[in-house]
Amino acid sequence: MMLEVKKFYLILHPRPAYLIGSGRVGEKVNFMAASWVTPIAEEPPLVGVAVGVDSYTRELIDFYREFTVNVLPMEKLNSIYYAGTRSGRDEDKTKIVKPVKGEKVQAPAVEDAIGVLECRLYSSVEAQDAIFYVGEVLTARADERVFDERRGWDTARVDIPLHNWGRGFYGLGRFQMAKS
Ligand SMILES: Cc1cc2nc3c(=O)[nH]c(=O)nc-3n(C[C@H](O)[C@H](O)[C@H](O)COP(=O)(O)O)c2cc1C
Repeated sequence: MMLEVKKFYLILHPRPAYLIGSGRVGEKVNFMAASWVTPIAEEPPLVGVAVGVDSYTRELIDFYREFTVNVLPMEKLNSIYYAGTRSGRDEDKTKIVKPVKGEKVQAPAVEDAIGVLECRLYSSVEAQDAIFYVGEVLTARADERVFDERRGWDTARVDIPLHNWGRGFYGLGRFQMAKS
């Protein structure tokens, strides 16, 4: 029997959990966890993220019109959880998640990130309790010890956390090739 599911999005998880950096280094800086993140287009390179309307991140992206998407390894899971369960309005999250200035944007990236997309706001869609921000990726970089351009992440060396709601987080699990 198929179960009727009210929270449809549970069906689309597990999804990788990233950190969104917003604000401007030297002024206001914030990070929030986000798993509702998706590539959209290659030319120009566009990425989308759904951000809750009440979040501090929303306020900062609206104001500074830049953001970063940061990939952290499983070992940094606590930083992701921390940034996803508190608001930067109440707490300075840079006590736990260390910022560095972006190369092409003034928004913060995460010092410990193994992958970073630096984005300039391209467009946004108001969608009830969320805003879907589309960012143009101005530069993207990944740690060469665990990533190469041809094959992507070396999952034998690095584990990227996947969020699965009440069941917590998973690693990427064992690598498997699809049959062609
Ligand atoms: C694993 C995880 C994934 C999350 N994904 C999203 C997301 O995609 N979009 C979103 O708006 N909030 C998401 N959240 C919740 C925000 O991170 C959370 O509301 C945060 O406190 C907002 O922080 P801010 O007010 O400092 O911006 C997620 C939380 C966790 C723990």
